[in-house]
Amino acid sequence: MSMAASLQPLVINPHTYEPVLRLDAPYQNIIIIPPRMEDVEPSVVVLNDPEVYPWMGIGGPDNPYTKENAQVWIERVKTVSDGILREIKLRNNREETGFQVDGYIGIERGTWAEIIELEERQRLVNANHRMEVGDKELWWQIGYYLSPTHHSQGTMSAAIGALINKWAIPRMGAKKIRATSFNGNRGSMRAMQKNGFVLAKTLEGCVQVQGEEAKRDLRILEWSLGAD
Ligand SMILES: CC(C)(COP(=O)(O)OP(=O)(O)OC[C@H]1O[C@@H](n2cnc3c(N)ncnc32)[C@H](O)[C@@H]1OP(=O)(O)O)[C@@H](O)C(=O)NCCC(=O)NCCS
Repeated sequence: MSMAASLQPLVINPHTYEPVLRLDAPYQNIIIIPPRMEDVEPSVVVLNDPEVYPWMGIGGPDNPYTKENAQVWIERVKTVSDGILREIKLRNNREETGFQVDGYIGIERGTWAEIIELEERQRLVNANHRMEVGDKELWWQIGYYLSPTHHSQGTMSAAIGALINKWAIPRMGAKKIRATSFNGNRGSMRAMQKNGFVLAKTLEGCVQVQGEEAKRDLRILEWSLGAD
């Protein structure tokens, strides 16, 4: 079996061994690729956009979001991602240029950032970390954002669907995924609901967003394999 076939549905660049997850039509011009340090500059632009940063959720990026913030974050996720790529004998050495980075989508083990009680949060995170990949009780968590130039075109709904169906289920054995969203973030709520997430609970007055008087409600959404 060729490497490309065994790693289906990832398409492997035959020269660089870089994996590419392409969205289905009509979003076939959009690809999800591993994080690279070149993502620092575009992520700083998007994460300082007033249509993006007020919605970035609990435990989200600093505001203003600096180049240093972006370097720390991307180094962190790149280290994890590069480790996984090494395990499956792929690389992250994109040589091509000329494509635009317009957003981010990531999946990691549950962080329970909404739990204010630190000991309780750590207990949940640790118990979740001890579980083997594929365990039916293991919680994954997704997060994402998109440049406003691309909002409301169905892109993130398609990207969430691709990440779950083409990567998280077949390659990670994911059975449970959670996500959080501020009250009023219709785009995020809809994108998740269209992919089978359901509202698990609302934490009222949970988060203070800079420059706003009233605290925002936070919604916890959950997805379970085979539930929809
Ligand atoms: C949330 C976000 C990623 C959604 O991405 P998107 O590609 O615009 O979403 P989609 O186009 O797939 O839209 C999904 C649904 O939400 C609706 N929607 C999208 N943006 C909307 C907005 N600003 N206001 C109201 N509805 C919106 C779409 O019409 C669609 O609804 P429908 O299926 O009922 O027609 C994007 O708005 C964003 O980056 N926002 C700022 C950062 C953020 O909120 N990140 C997530 C934190 S939880």
